[in-house]
Amino acid sequence: MFSKAFLAICFAAVALGKPVARNLQVHEARTQVPPAFSLVGAASPDTVLNLRIALVSSDMAGLEKALMDVSTPSSTLYGQHLSKEEVEQFVAPTQDTVEAVTAWLKENDIEATQASPAGDWLSFSIPVSKANELFDADFSVFTHTSTGSQAIRTLSYSIPTDLKGKLDFVHPTTVFAQPFSGPRFSIPIVPPSAGNLTSRAVPSSCNSVVTPACLQAMYGIPTTSNAISSNVLGVSGFIEQFANQADLKSFLTRFRTDLSSSTTFTLQTLDGGSNPQGSSQAGVEANLDIQYTVGVASKVPVTFVSVGENNQDGVDGFLDIINLLIGETTPPTVLTTSYGFNEPDLPTSVANNLCNAYMQLGARGTSILFASGDGGVSGSQSQSCSTFIPTFPSGCPFLTSVGATTGITETAADFSSGGFSNIFARPSYQSAAVSSYLSALGSTNSGKFNTSGRAFPDVAAQGENVEIAVSGQFGLVAGTSCSSPIFASVIALLNDQLKEAGKSPLGFLNPFLYSTGASALNDITTGSNPGCNTNGFPAKAGWDPVTGLGTPNFAALQAAVGL
Ligand SMILES: *[C@@H]1O[C@H](CO)[C@@H](O)[C@H](O)[C@H]1NC(C)=O
Ligand SMILES: *[C@@H]1O[C@H](CO)[C@@H](O)[C@H](O)[C@H]1NC(C)=O
Repeated sequence: MFSKAFLAICFAAVALGKPVARNLQVHEARTQVPPAFSLVGAASPDTVLNLRIALVSSDMAGLEKALMDVSTPSSTLYGQHLSKEEVEQFVAPTQDTVEAVTAWLKENDIEATQASPAGDWLSFSIPVSKANELFDADFSVFTHTSTGSQAIRTLSYSIPTDLKGKLDFVHPTTVFAQPFSGPRFSIPIVPPSAGNLTSRAVPSSCNSVVTPACLQAMYGIPTTSNAISSNVLGVSGFIEQFANQADLKSFLTRFRTDLSSSTTFTLQTLDGGSNPQGSSQAGVEANLDIQYTVGVASKVPVTFVSVGENNQDGVDGFLDIINLLIGETTPPTVLTTSYGFNEPDLPTSVANNLCNAYMQLGARGTSILFASGDGGVSGSQSQSCSTFIPTFPSGCPFLTSVGATTGITETAADFSSGGFSNIFARPSYQSAAVSSYLSALGSTNSGKFNTSGRAFPDVAAQGENVEIAVSGQFGLVAGTSCSSPIFASVIALLNDQLKEAGKSPLGFLNPFLYSTGASALNDITTGSNPGCNTNGFPAKAGWDPVTGLGTPNFAALQAAVGL
């Protein structure tokens, strides 16, 4: 006690004099401004920056082991998901880490607030002038050329040498995420389809128009559930994409006459999010995601989580939404997201942090699904490229990435993104499946992708000619944006039956999917995902980087999960 007090007095004395000089060391840097952005000029010294510091967690390796234990069917701990507190023990930084970083901030008159449940994030606001000095940075204004949206970032920053291994990274600094500029992973709606769709015979019409009845017929999806209130299916919403209640009603009235047309969803908001109901405000992406969850996961409670535009996390609210859900005592049992980035847009630090956040939610028992992207091997959207562009978060090994198929005799949809991460190494649960594919592929596309990376997608579902209602009209959409909510609905229905039988929900799916679950999926062996002036990857027997392990076979999945 005595020596502690003594030390504190020493620090105070020094702080009153000159700031303690510390050796700074460059922590993260970019050699140039990313091509999609341009430098406007120096940021005004008085502009206040809302910064966050990620602290190094005490035991992420321990959490990863715990996640694999509760998610691997052969493990004795399978299904024994962790509590919020148990997860937080792994994630919380050590006392030493917290003290070292907060002491340094205090020396600089910065009072930081804890910004995550486990205390691994701190936040504070300081002017640009102070941030430049503190981090030996050059905070400047950058414009995203095609959208004109501006952000204050620095190409490099430093931290005190003695905080290495304690301070993980400062954010947002070197992140240049391209702002979302419309429905991601979704091709614009086409004119309404002709004919009386409810009278069409299933399944031949499903070759040209996909409806909930088509999916029920193709995948054997049940038309009802036990409607268990704790079995919540979460749907992420971003970029002012709003889910329209009246359109959902029209959709259900037309396609789910067996359900009450007033079946609806609940709303959760963050970062100033909302869900206004004007007809012109209905979003294609949000309507698709809601109609193919409420309309497929019959009677399962669905929550639309609307992230507003007041997000300041540098990644369009991706950090905020996941930290919000991690903080909940009972998060959704399934979460589907049809938005994403190209992996090179994010610094490794930020990608790792988000991926670790998905790990935390997975350990709690949430199945996390993301659309794989719509640019084939060229990234989230089609673009020119010389080497393949993986998408994020699909490259994160702690979630399930969903690609797209088309047709009754299912073949890969040519836009279905898939490939290999350059950040995340291949997890052991998929090593055998991916090795087989790489041997069968031979030298095709050699040098264009990273053979050691986490490979995606993991699974697939229908993603073309999917009929939805928007602003009172019916039309068709395409994209892996369709596939993720469809697959998520299948998992939500399995969870409903598992819960009814007194069993645990499925949680993180991949260790199950790549083992006992693989034969419960329809293997897709035709089609490919062209891009970057190549034919992309061909679908093949077994796992492939276009359709993953395949599409759901509900009856086989029931058997595989022990129902
Ligand atoms: C559309 O199909 C429904 C259900 O089969 C049928 O009751 C209705 O008469 C049909 N409407 C038209 C205009 O064909
Ligand atoms: C390939 O992926 C690994 C992770 O598996 C990564 O460490 C490495 O840097 C990547 N290589 C390139 C050239 O990006």
